[in-house]
Amino acid sequence: MPHQKSWAEPWKIKMVEHLRMTTQEEREAAIKEAGYNTFLLKSDDVYIDLLTDSGTNAMSDRQWAGLMMGDESYAGSRNFYHLEKTVQDYYSYKYFIPTHQGRGAEHMLSQILIKDGDYIPGNMYFTTTRLHQELAGGTFVDVIIDEAHDTESEHPFKGNVDLKKLENLIDKVGADKIPYVCIATAVNMAGGQPISLGNLKALRELTQKHGIPIVHDMTRVAENAWFIKMREEGYLRKSVKDIVYEICSLTDHATMSAKKDPLVNIGGFMATNDEDVYRNAQNMVVVYEGLHTYGGMAGRDMEALAIGITESVQDDHMRSRIGQTLYLGNKLADAGIPIVKPIGSHGVFIDAKKFLPHLTQDVFPAQTLAAEIYVQNGIRTMERGIISAGRNKETGDHNRPNLELVRVTLPRRVYTQAHMDVVVESIIDVFERRESIKGLQFTYEPEYLRFFQARFEPIS
Ligand code: F0G
Repeated sequence: MPHQKSWAEPWKIKMVEHLRMTTQEEREAAIKEAGYNTFLLKSDDVYIDLLTDSGTNAMSDRQWAGLMMGDESYAGSRNFYHLEKTVQDYYSYKYFIPTHQGRGAEHMLSQILIKDGDYIPGNMYFTTTRLHQELAGGTFVDVIIDEAHDTESEHPFKGNVDLKKLENLIDKVGADKIPYVCIATAVNMAGGQPISLGNLKALRELTQKHGIPIVHDMTRVAENAWFIKMREEGYLRKSVKDIVYEICSLTDHATMSAKKDPLVNIGGFMATNDEDVYRNAQNMVVVYEGLHTYGGMAGRDMEALAIGITESVQDDHMRSRIGQTLYLGNKLADAGIPIVKPIGSHGVFIDAKKFLPHLTQDVFPAQTLAAEIYVQNGIRTMERGIISAGRNKETGDHNRPNLELVRVTLPRRVYTQAHMDVVVESIIDVFERRESIKGLQFTYEPEYLRFFQARFEPIS
């Protein structure tokens, strides 16, 4: 470890991409045109884009060099074998199937493992993950600890599974109705909150007793590993790389959206230790993604991913990655902005219920706040609240999550500390005029994953 206290980046900038600044009038017109949904804005109308950390990473010079080594053979590309070996070496899983991105892997694994009427416990839902479970005939059951639903709880591992909740479910429905437990690392919807290795080991023991496998949504596993290193007893001297390996080896199957942790712009995979599941997935991948040696990715993308995986587990990378998130989060908290605590991995999550206490959840406070933050200064964030939670598949009512959040998400290796300062100033400006902010109502609501394409108008 270098002898420095700062989170300064372990890289320098070789190429820059220009940003466009807009006027307030232009932004008001743009958000109206976008139906008050930040997903529907044109990126040219955005100044600092903190919509997501998904596919927005800056690649390194080595990864760009890797692109030039792409072997675009239809079958048996050399980059596939490099990537397969990297997944085995860094993540422990025996078998590897590439997909175009994370949800391609979720689709296959859900269809292979879930039967009609099954229950899938998980440490909080993720939008695409739960939808694929439901489309396969399953019902998601939240078994995360209660602290995860409380924005003020300072629990160091808010991603932990409540083993009592899981045992109750097993008693109620029977282990044969539970095809697997789904564990996300650095739980996205909880605010990028980690699961501890202690909890994962206890979960392993409990599930093995009942013959239930564990599926690992490993999209942000290295970020989770950093928190284990910092917070869990006995791990400070272990490397992120070793902790990542240990987490993975406690699970049976995995889905990965490579657009996050592994520092690329597109890609994903499914991995497993079970040969039957592997054979099934190899059968499915040719139907939905592409041949089993590319699964929707170009050879060059597989090469960039293999290199990105090795960079993502470096301690100095992770120190600056999470360091930037902490920098932003602490500045917001110091200014009195209500945020989820502890500050998580991939972004800072603003508590929209506390920011806009005069708005009920029925007028979509987080959706409203994301639109206002855009209008203020061109900063794009996203809603993670009642709109993202969708509707109950039986009753058709809104799911009403406790967490009504705006996610201020940080792409990896993209923005500077000065950008973070502008973000803080802009959010403070919105906070100062919060009492004049009114809510939104739907003008269009799509059936699936409504947050991506829904349109709204201000309540008159
Ligand atoms: N699992 C988690 C935890 C995710 O955060 C995502 C994507 C996926 C699975 C699906 O992967 O997008 O590659 O198909 N999250 C993005 C986000 C969309 O902005 O949080 P994908």
